[in-house]
Amino acid sequence: MRWTSLLPLALAALSPSHVLAARETLDEAAVHVRELISYRAFNTGVLMSVFPDDAQVPVPGLPFGLQEYYAEYPDSNGDILLLAMPIAAIYRNALPPNPPNLTLTINDMYGFGKGNLAAGRMRVALYGTLEPVEDENEAERCHQAYLAAHPDARGWIGAGGPHSNFFARMRVNKVYAFNGFGDVAYIGWVPLDLYRESGAKMRSAKEAHRDWPVPRQPEEAGLATLFGEQLDQEEGEAEGKAKARFRIQW
Ligand SMILES: *[C@@H]1O[C@H](CO)[C@@H](O)[C@H](O)[C@H]1NC(C)=O
Repeated sequence: MRWTSLLPLALAALSPSHVLAARETLDEAAVHVRELISYRAFNTGVLMSVFPDDAQVPVPGLPFGLQEYYAEYPDSNGDILLLAMPIAAIYRNALPPNPPNLTLTINDMYGFGKGNLAAGRMRVALYGTLEPVEDENEAERCHQAYLAAHPDARGWIGAGGPHSNFFARMRVNKVYAFNGFGDVAYIGWVPLDLYRESGAKMRSAKEAHRDWPVPRQPEEAGLATLFGEQLDQEEGEAEGKAKARFRIQW
């Protein structure tokens, strides 16, 4: 982790007017993870599974992931609702006779403007297992929840859809948070009970959009030196350009 090891040097060079935000605590990180999943990813992530060793594909034994819609599983406190389609290899890899394990990564999708700010953005990996929803009433609740998150999915949900599909609960069992650069953000495992209980501490969607721990921009946090000396040397015009390039555009 080159960033982290260089950081003390960069900070030592700062003038006293630079005040660094305190590092995000694990408790805060767990709430941010829940808010990220609920409000900041358009209910879309990358769903992954592993091809079985004997799969008739060019890449047996390797992981496979593609963009996928999700919704929050109703009243589950942190589980994920998926519309499983056995035609899709990612789901097939997690359906019998294969083990039911899946991984879903979710990224902060807000704030992309000019410049690439993805490096400092919050993201989370949820590990869990796929459980088909069998109860009819439960499936109806899932239907409503999924449609609320993805109205466009009405064209492919259920028996009228082009492919066989069913609602499934991804029961989360491990959570890994990468909430941004390690000087200000938590990076590491989030205990499952903390992940679950943090749902009660989430703010409203509006608050989470208004007041979000956006990645510190290099020049703001004194990280400019880590991006190369140019920012320091060519102040004025170059600095203005760099600001425009790195500033978050809401
Ligand atoms: C995969 O799923 C099984 C069945 O639920 C579970 O027991 C196991 O812990 C999961 N494997 C891992 C590595 O999490």
